Amino acid sequence: MKEFPRNFLWGAATSAHQVEGSNIHNDWWLAEKTHALKEASGEACCHYELYPEDFAIAKELNHNCHRFSIEWSRIEPEEGNFDLLEIEHYRKVIADLRSRGIEPVVTLHHFTNPAWFSQKGGWVKFRLQEYFLRFVERIVKEFCSEVKFWITINEPLVYSSHAYLLGAWPPKQRSLFKTVKVTFNLAQAHIKAYRVIHKIYKDSSLERPMVGIAANLQAFEFCQPTLKNKISVYLRNKLYNLYFIDELRGKKTLDYIGINYYGRNLADVENWGLRHLLLDTCKYNHHPLRKNSLGWDIYPEGLYKLLSAVKKYNLPVLITENGICTEDDDLKWDYIREHLAQISRAISEGVEVIGYIYWSLIDNFEWDKGFDPRFGLVHIDYHSQKRTIRPSARKLAQVFKSGMI
Ligand code: GAL
Repeated sequence: MKEFPRNFLWGAATSAHQVEGSNIHNDWWLAEKTHALKEASGEACCHYELYPEDFAIAKELNHNCHRFSIEWSRIEPEEGNFDLLEIEHYRKVIADLRSRGIEPVVTLHHFTNPAWFSQKGGWVKFRLQEYFLRFVERIVKEFCSEVKFWITINEPLVYSSHAYLLGAWPPKQRSLFKTVKVTFNLAQAHIKAYRVIHKIYKDSSLERPMVGIAANLQAFEFCQPTLKNKISVYLRNKLYNLYFIDELRGKKTLDYIGINYYGRNLADVENWGLRHLLLDTCKYNHHPLRKNSLGWDIYPEGLYKLLSAVKKYNLPVLITENGICTEDDDLKWDYIREHLAQISRAISEGVEVIGYIYWSLIDNFEWDKGFDPRFGLVHIDYHSQKRTIRPSARKLAQVFKSGMI
């Protein structure tokens, strides 16, 4: 039995577009309308209306924090027009969480953009980040007295690579040049947003907030110890795992490190060339591991290794996402339990982990993969919108209650 620290944050996450439904003013909705994606988000989980029911479940499952995102395109559906009713909506969401004793962890950018922002050129254009900063300033001024934990940008590199390199997400481009630009612009946007947020708290004489990003970290390993593979793993670690953290840490704009962790990436590079070095993975199921329903390798020890690697930054670490999509609930519980054990191992070796947020509270719209992958602690019947708590969620609730694994 291992005990987690007192005041540990225990919860689950969602993001607006994946659960709310009818996010008609963003770039995803626009792309979904043209059938450029597998499925459209549509009503999703009707969480926009059903959030009190969902938060009641979170409470029943002993969650003491909840991560969600504020949808920029709802707040500012047209350039410069801030929708006061939508601001009130999120005020109610935060108040509902607080009334249940659940700490809100608020994401300001989770992959979607207002359609007008994308039509102007989106994150490729350096000067457009000013629009994001204006939104951030508005939201943080509205909610600073109720929110302590902010995530400015979710998985900046996943966003830039899926949208601008792999052509999988809107605006579906394949340009290394644009990917680099977008990545750089997102880093700059975070740095500025961090300063804006801290200034607001200071000017209002509020206690310092905790501001960070949610970085997607993968356990990069090689299939065979060839020179190409070794260089590839080194580069992937540097670029995908550590670039953002190094950059923001260097500018003193991280109060904690948010880690989204899912599993292993097994590099097996076919040819020299940057694209190969950065993207090729083993196609032959060498070194097989258990997999989730999307075929991702389950590798709990990788989380321990990454936590050990970020210890050098001397910052608190919040696990902002960790989860599995599967129809096999026993596997879901094994996944969670084994990852918690690895977190506990890292804590016992001096890594300051302050919380664990499972992805996701409820099944939801998994971007270009549609509704098939089921990550939720809670099952959603998309016809009736009925919520059913999975047995694994109840087991996790026991850990949340006792603080022991
Ligand atoms: C993350 C992302 C989430 C969710 C999850 C599962 O990359 O932040 O929105 O989709 O992966 O794939």
